[in-house]
Amino acid sequence: MRILGIDIGGTGIKSAIVETATGKLAGKRIRAETPRRATPEQVARVLREQISAHEWDGPVGAGFPAVIREDTVCTAANIDASFIGLPIADYFSEQTGRPVFAINDADAAGLAEARFGAARDIPGVVLVITIGTGLGTSLFIGGKLLPNTELGHLLLDNGMDAERYASESARVRQKLSWKTWGKRFNRYLDAMEKLLWPDLIVLGGGISKQREKFVPALKTRASVVTACYFNRAGIVGAALYAETRLAKALPVPHAVE
Ligand code: BGC
Repeated sequence: MRILGIDIGGTGIKSAIVETATGKLAGKRIRAETPRRATPEQVARVLREQISAHEWDGPVGAGFPAVIREDTVCTAANIDASFIGLPIADYFSEQTGRPVFAINDADAAGLAEARFGAARDIPGVVLVITIGTGLGTSLFIGGKLLPNTELGHLLLDNGMDAERYASESARVRQKLSWKTWGKRFNRYLDAMEKLLWPDLIVLGGGISKQREKFVPALKTRASVVTACYFNRAGIVGAALYAETRLAKALPVPHAVE
């Protein structure tokens, strides 16, 4: 089945049509800057633009950088606060004229890696960390997602919110060398390992393309790998999520393709 996957981030909004049976992109990838004031109206405008650029009239899966419970936004760390309380799936569906299903962006990235990528067929505990404007996490056991883990906001032993200290935006904002940032990220991984004892850690987000600059210096008990999909995982996972939701909503004959 083909679904348009959209990854709404604090800095960019990226989308592509995804072939859900293989996890491959079935068309070009489009990227736009996230509007400076990322209000629901402004984000919906970008979604409409991208949907029309893809000439798409089918269902949409959207990864969104916030906790989403019962299709409603609950937090807003890197997005306008006016999103809080918004029934996001209904709102974007209404604004775009097609069914939109929304999931936390890191959970979306994790779904793609668990189904087709670096966390495929891993029976134990897998922690996926997306390093970008924010620090996103998704947690899996036996391939099953525990949704909305906000472990990027863990307070470290220096009292700092991990995201403020060790995200990609912190590295850029504070002009940190890779070595200094790597030490910070190690401190975060150390905290994660003490709390969760994962079997595998998958690192995704834009930074994962530059793996050689920081992965060799990471010191962990668990194996660390970079996401197979790099920062495309969010797009692919959002489409996979929409497919699952559609399968549940439709009568069985339509759910099986
Ligand atoms: C948000 C998470 C999100 C992460 C990555 C954090 O600031 O709280 O919900 O997954 O950024 O975008």
